[in-house]
Amino acid sequence: MILVTGGAGFIGANFVLDWLAGGGEPVLNLDALTYAGNLETLAGVEGDPGHRFVHGDICDRTLLERLFAAHRPRAVVHFAAESHVDRSIHGPAAFVRTNVEGTFTLLEATRAYWSALPQDERETFRFLHVSTDEVYGSLGPDDPAFTETKTYEPNSPYSASKAASDHLVRAWHHTYGLPVLTTNCSNNYGPFQFPEKLIPLMIVNALAGKPLPVYGDGLNVRDWLYVGDHCSAIRAVLARGRVGETYNVGGWNEIANLDIVHSLCTLLDELRPDAAGGYARLITHVTDRPGHDRRYAIDARKIGRELGWKPAQTFATGIRKTVQWYLDNPRWVANVQSGAYRDWVARNYAAREARQ
Ligand code: NAD
Ligand code: DAU
Repeated sequence: MILVTGGAGFIGANFVLDWLAGGGEPVLNLDALTYAGNLETLAGVEGDPGHRFVHGDICDRTLLERLFAAHRPRAVVHFAAESHVDRSIHGPAAFVRTNVEGTFTLLEATRAYWSALPQDERETFRFLHVSTDEVYGSLGPDDPAFTETKTYEPNSPYSASKAASDHLVRAWHHTYGLPVLTTNCSNNYGPFQFPEKLIPLMIVNALAGKPLPVYGDGLNVRDWLYVGDHCSAIRAVLARGRVGETYNVGGWNEIANLDIVHSLCTLLDELRPDAAGGYARLITHVTDRPGHDRRYAIDARKIGRELGWKPAQTFATGIRKTVQWYLDNPRWVANVQSGAYRDWVARNYAAREARQ
């Protein structure tokens, strides 16, 4: 059994679906179902005896202790977080609470459980912390890509809270010996991403004929990775990563935002032509994000060298699959937009929990 936190969010749910599809051991999935948590995403494993969902908060120490005692996981994979930079600018408190206090509470509950394990289980236990490249700060056009030894220079409330969580994880290893692993990954895209993030927002807006809001000059650069490749990296680190190490994960795909938006418009023009003369007409430059980091780039050589990981998708293949997924799943999108996805737990999982 592994304990996954945040497994109803974008990456966590993709991880749970991939893990169980690959024949992985049972998953205990703890998620608070904030606006970003969507159990409809997990419909494919509804009723699967290998998936047990618990609606709860990583800040709840009593709940965590109860879950550890009852399920005795051999690893924690920690995705749960507030993840959206724009939201962190408008309301940083939730980011400090979940990302800092929540990670602290999870570390403490994990440490109490891990300390009491028999010696052989203490040695094989793992706490894998899923983090971000944003902790490293912003790069100039000629700076080398982030390596694992890059100094931390977080610039947004989101990245500062993730940086704090990374430091807590590091300290729990060095001080208490907790067998931790940390991954710092670049921008993910793919199925089931909440349409507040750049790629799904642009797809959903374009299909609705709404403006495509590009912040500032649109020349900010991100390094894009298909979510399935992030999940395979996490599986590799969990299985073979060296305890106490951090691994950068990225797709070697540095692309400016404006180029991303143009490539989405081109794909949509091909796959769902509109009558009005092409989606690019909807591109609108809007006021920039405060403190907007200019460029991120990940040097992913360490995980390749040590663990043999490399991405399976190029940006061209991954983005085509992603656009096609949004075209094929209008119901998932409509339920997110209307808020109906929030009823899913009441209609499905809550009834099942009550029967167990
Ligand atoms: P997301 O916002 O889609 O999902 C976060 C999940 O965590 C949601 O299901 C939410 O309900 C849950 N959650 C939030 N607060 C909680 C709490 N207090 N207790 C329990 N559950 C809680 O995020 P995502 O994009 O899937 O990101 C997952 C992780 O990966 C985060 O830690 C993020 O920092 C990291 N990450 C994301 C990206 C990216 O591009 N999205 C890239 C690198 C790293
Ligand atoms: O780098 C990893 C990070 O990537 C993760 O840690 C975060 O959880 C994830 O949200 C993401 O952060 P970004 O801020 O890079 O992602 P976002 O999709 O919000 O924005 C990507 C770029 O697009 C960024 O430069 C801002 C710009 N943007 C975004 C939106 C939502 C726009 O120009 N217009 C938009 O409407």
